[in-house]
Amino acid sequence: MSVPALELNGLKKNFGKAEIIRGIDLSIGKAERHAIIGPNGAGKSTLFNLITARFPPSAGTVKLHGEDLTGLQPFEINRRGLSRSFQITNIFPKMTVFENVRCALLWAQGYKYSFWNFVNRSRKLTEGTEAILEQINLANRRDLPAGTLSYAEQRALEIGITIAGGANVIMLDEPTAGMSHSETDYITDLILKVTEGKTLIMVEHDMGVVFGLADRISVLVYGEIIATGAPEAVRADPKVQEAYLGAALEAEH
Ligand SMILES: Nc1ncnc2c1ncn2[C@@H]1O[C@H](COP(=O)(O)OP(=O)(O)OP(=O)(O)O)[C@@H](O)[C@H]1O
Ligand SMILES: [Mg+2]
Repeated sequence: MSVPALELNGLKKNFGKAEIIRGIDLSIGKAERHAIIGPNGAGKSTLFNLITARFPPSAGTVKLHGEDLTGLQPFEINRRGLSRSFQITNIFPKMTVFENVRCALLWAQGYKYSFWNFVNRSRKLTEGTEAILEQINLANRRDLPAGTLSYAEQRALEIGITIAGGANVIMLDEPTAGMSHSETDYITDLILKVTEGKTLIMVEHDMGVVFGLADRISVLVYGEIIATGAPEAVRADPKVQEAYLGAALEAEH
């Protein structure tokens, strides 16, 4: 069996006395699209923060392509091919769309805030940025300040920033939150396109998106995974119906 892209073993997180993540074991395969669903406050974003080392776990391990990430900094994990977006839009609104993506590419290549002269001359960097703008359908918006884009376009830009470093494991936290149906469809197609052949781990509330996109789903309730499996199996699971899906599916109507 090949090494999983991501493997969580006995992962726990307490904030003070509150047990927020209560022992998670999960293995996500290479090129799998995996959705994490569950009620508000279940610990989905916290789980993301543990995987990407924004918080140290209280117990347990995270492995990326078989490598234990314990003790690594977020940027070191990023360099190993894992990249994430945040639940709240996280772009530089005054910089242009082009500059936002270029900045992400630069960062991924290890440059920080110097080298701007070099940057302007770097054709490779410009071409790389343009290729990403094409992928996220924002080539015709490249010179606009990012803050002037529509909300859906800003989320698309954010996805571009997330994939810019060429990561092979992409984590998106509620990429379609607050969108209309048509915007949601648009972003779902975009996600499918840009994560082709990559591992995707996504927190998502919209069940249409989850069932359309995920190979497997994990249901997180009060810091525990109560079910993991193919969409149809998870949908039919009485435990899931009771704890979450019944209410979530009703909310769609
Ligand atoms: N830094 C922190 N310090 C203390 N408590 C925290 C911290 N971060 C999250 N929590 C708590 O952990 C619980 C889980 O929060 P989390 O944001 O992970 O949930 P979520 O599943 O992402 O919810 P939502 O669907 O609303 O985004 C909440 O009760 C939250 O208040
Ligand atoms: Mg969250």
